[in-house]
Amino acid sequence: MRINGPHGYWVSDDRSLIDVRLVHQWISGESYWAAGRPYEVMARAIEHSLVLGLYTAAGAQAGFARLVTDRSTFAWLCDVFVDAAHRGNGLGMFLVAAATDHPDVAGIRQVLSAEPGRSIYRRLGFGEFASPQRWMERTRPGPANSEVSSAPPGIAPWITPPEIASPSPQAPGAGREG
Ligand SMILES: CC(C)(COP(=O)(O)OP(=O)(O)OC[C@H]1O[C@@H](n2cnc3c(N)ncnc32)[C@H](O)[C@@H]1OP(=O)(O)O)[C@@H](O)C(=O)NCCC(=O)NCCS
Repeated sequence: MRINGPHGYWVSDDRSLIDVRLVHQWISGESYWAAGRPYEVMARAIEHSLVLGLYTAAGAQAGFARLVTDRSTFAWLCDVFVDAAHRGNGLGMFLVAAATDHPDVAGIRQVLSAEPGRSIYRRLGFGEFASPQRWMERTRPGPANSEVSSAPPGIAPWITPPEIASPSPQAPGAGREG
């Protein structure tokens, strides 16, 4: 899917066009929500998300947005970023509108997390949770990464490594010196 926008800019949902190193540089180095996110985490997140790239007329990537979604019931909009050199021209609005209107998610519940006071999202229909008391969060320790588990691939995050597991109560008599 390709959508043409202002000044020759365009948005595409073609994952193969994404410059993963550039997106990692933006999100890891310049975002307030995922500073220090490892490259492998960013690459894996892109691989498993609906991703949108914003491009100049010449094809250089100028922005990025990601939707974590099952494309059926729920979508989480995150990692919205426009390169600093391209900001203030309506491209953030264009990119987020392209994301929220994407045919795979346009008709389903969408959520996001952002600093209070951002105007862009409200103008596209986002508001407070209707039932905030129903939402819960389970945070996980990681390198300044609040959005994706930082556990290395292959290690189930629910398994506590043995070296930091707390000692289990000993059976009666066990461990006593004779
Ligand atoms: C937010 C961001 C994507 C906006 O990109 P942009 O191309 O400058 O956006 P636009 O020119 O379309 O401006 C859209 C509106 O968003 C507002 N805006 C500015 N910074 C914003 C922000 N961080 N989040 C949401 N809206 C923002 C602008 O004031 C403008 O509102 P206005 O029309 O009422 O003046 C860009 O500033 C950016 O990438 N910032 C760094 C990363 C970030 O903060 N991402 C958003 C995470 S919530």
